[in-house]
Amino acid sequence: MTLTVLGIESSCDDTGAALVRAGEGAPEVLAPEILANVVAGQTELHAAFGGVVPEIAARAHAERLDLVVEQALARAGLTLGDLDAIAVTAGPGLIGGVLSGVMMAKGLSAATGLPLVGVNHLAGHALTPRLTDGIEFPYLMLLVSGGHCQFLRVEGPESFTRLGGTIDDAPGEAFDKCAKLLGLPQPGGPAVEAEARQGDPKRFAFPRPLLDRPGCDLSFSGLKTALMRARDALVAEQGGLTRQDRADLCAGFQAAIADTLAEKSRRALTASPGVTAFAVAGGVAANATLRARLTEVAGDLPFVAPPLSLCTDNAAMIAWAGIERLRLGHADDLTLGARPRWPL
Ligand code: KG4
Ligand code: ZN
Repeated sequence: MTLTVLGIESSCDDTGAALVRAGEGAPEVLAPEILANVVAGQTELHAAFGGVVPEIAARAHAERLDLVVEQALARAGLTLGDLDAIAVTAGPGLIGGVLSGVMMAKGLSAATGLPLVGVNHLAGHALTPRLTDGIEFPYLMLLVSGGHCQFLRVEGPESFTRLGGTIDDAPGEAFDKCAKLLGLPQPGGPAVEAEARQGDPKRFAFPRPLLDRPGCDLSFSGLKTALMRARDALVAEQGGLTRQDRADLCAGFQAAIADTLAEKSRRALTASPGVTAFAVAGGVAANATLRARLTEVAGDLPFVAPPLSLCTDNAAMIAWAGIERLRLGHADDLTLGARPRWPL
């Protein structure tokens, strides 16, 4: 028997709807299939504000959810009658957006009688390597996005042990702030990575925060201060930044993030014996320098990095996490709430 599930995602600045179909066996037995994965991003709506504005995001989600659900169904050639359940991000995230998605899912569930499955957004990211690569529990996951940074030992669809994480900014946030300080476009990660390709990572010495402390916790806010100081010193000396200065700053900044994440990953792997793989998810996992460093750290263990469209926020991961919960016999009802904070 197969399960066909609609996933809905609206916890930050992407409005997503996706259809995923999977058999009842383990993912490697019956490869799950993404029938449609529609994402309406909001980058342009927030561009002028230098960050996501919650009210603007909530309004855009409310306006677009109907449309993305319709588009996903049309692309998959399905109707609501073909579905087995509706999965929705119920948190954590910006509450206006999460509420919009949950209300949409409840409406569809009430109208069709289909089961409703609330999904933790972080669980969606953390379970993605099973959707894309069929890896088995337990595995180590590094979740690195604009809002999150944590090491998780993933033991089951609802069983996660947090081994450490950032004590301040997430790495994506650090990349975005770096871009802002250097006058590069948002989202900052891809812009900084592109500049860094022309740069010398050794010209500026950026700190490697918390490496002197045991454990897997991370900190990125000091990097931003170091970057600001280096930039201001150059401006005071030369009256501005050359193209090469900018590239060297980006390369040094990126190297500091990659080094720190690599060393903490090494520790997290040491602290989690018996894992089947080392996997990453989140937008920052798109970074090629970081991927190369993490592949090295994984050594003989399979290193799993889902394709970019499934690393960043999307609804296919929510549909899939919904399928994983359904297989455990778990679902929710119309009392499902929206949670701004929801640690795994
Ligand atoms: O997972 P995501 O789409 O959204 C969140 O849930 O946060 O991640 C977005 C973050 C942004 O901060 C963006 O700058 C960063 O991922 N990012 C990158 C790259 N592509 C996206 N960071 C570094 N290098 C990249 N190539
Ligand atoms: Zn996310």
